[in-house]
Amino acid sequence: MASTGAPARSSWSGKWAFILAAAASAVGLGNMWRFPYLAAKYGGGTFLITYLVLVFTFGVSMLLLEIALGRKTGQSTIGAFKQFGKKYAFIGVLASIVPFIITPYYCIIGGWVAKYTVGYLVDGPEALAADGFFTGFITGGAESFLWMFLFMAVVYVVVSLGVKGGIEKANLFMMPALIVMAVAIAAYTLTMPGALDGALYYLVPDFSKFSPELVIGALGQMFYSLSLAMGIMVTYGSYLDKKSSLTSSVVRIGGFDVGVSFLAGLMIVPAAFVAMGSGEAVAANSGPSLMFVILPQVFGDMGTAATVVGFLFFLLVLFAALTSAISLTETCVSIVQDGAGWSRKKSLFAVVAVVTVAGAFVNLGYNGLSFIEPLGAGTSLLDFFDFLSNSVIMPIVALLTCVFVGWIIKPKAIVDEVELSGPFRASGFWTVMIKYVAPVLVVVIMVAFVAQTFGIVTF
Ligand code: PHE
Repeated sequence: MASTGAPARSSWSGKWAFILAAAASAVGLGNMWRFPYLAAKYGGGTFLITYLVLVFTFGVSMLLLEIALGRKTGQSTIGAFKQFGKKYAFIGVLASIVPFIITPYYCIIGGWVAKYTVGYLVDGPEALAADGFFTGFITGGAESFLWMFLFMAVVYVVVSLGVKGGIEKANLFMMPALIVMAVAIAAYTLTMPGALDGALYYLVPDFSKFSPELVIGALGQMFYSLSLAMGIMVTYGSYLDKKSSLTSSVVRIGGFDVGVSFLAGLMIVPAAFVAMGSGEAVAANSGPSLMFVILPQVFGDMGTAATVVGFLFFLLVLFAALTSAISLTETCVSIVQDGAGWSRKKSLFAVVAVVTVAGAFVNLGYNGLSFIEPLGAGTSLLDFFDFLSNSVIMPIVALLTCVFVGWIIKPKAIVDEVELSGPFRASGFWTVMIKYVAPVLVVVIMVAFVAQTFGIVTF
């Protein structure tokens, strides 16, 4: 499989390895902690249906675009845009900034998850459910740094073993394990007294909750959850051979991601519903508190099952976080490798150095640097970088990418690439999506999120 670009480029061992890797990147903390909270907030089933429709129209269209662009050019994101003219390289540069921003803070949260996983075995469920445990831990200095470093070390080792030797093997083990654990825990929590009311709240659509805010929330979630607009799917597409069907692959990746999000909601919403008494109360706990404060309390009340359920739950979240962090790190490495023309090893060293230092810096936002509140009182450096990447740079990258493909190189360039490996029946629909619908939706997300962060609108 000769491809252009740097020598010794990596490649997947087959179509399923690729699908699993893309799904492993997609399935992450976003599915586990953000999706259930959004579903609880926006009337359960109504949100589920909206999300499903968006993923299988807009989401898979964007996935297809990025993967085909990567495969067509055989380059990670900067090189991919540059191939069509030097003046377009800036889109790739902008996309490349995103994984460098996200990886450090993602690893901080990964460290928290690792701490809780081990905590169920070492400290016990009561300790983790105690008031103030979470805040004490993240603001407590050295310990949170150690867990972050530990999480990073695992990620670096897997990436250093390469695409086939490290990433594929890690996914092959962690993804099925994750699904088995999610099904088991969902089944268990549904047997808790009162959980069925929570499940009904989660599943039955309450159409009165349908609103523009719901659609915007679902759109933003979809972007992050499918790992779009940050060069990951371009890179992963560049490792793919020309025979593998792209259309069926993107539908499977989307299906995987939605499926795990759905399961996460089924585990978390009914359990939290039991503890808090209503869906609205669950929805009031955005951000880390649902996962790191409320759930440990729910588990803490489970008696003898607490240790096992808590441990398995956090282990599954840990696997989801690890596989996503691996994809982020791999993308950083690939960007440096292609951009600087360095060997994979040297690129990895550079990425490890930058990400580790940046992670330590962002983590200081909960400790020595907590006086910095970039987005207003109570916000942290982590919140700021999350906002910068998700609400600002990613929508801009997505918009530029759609305009680039829709209006500059023209959709046919991508349609031809897709058709190399099979018929593309939805090409007309896809073209309309990329040229007209996607740019509009992306601008809506960006304006809404920025306005929300600065308190101009609330939703
Ligand atoms: N898609 C992942 C999630 O849902 C997050 C992620 C973001 C992964 C960016 C890679 C890159 O958590």
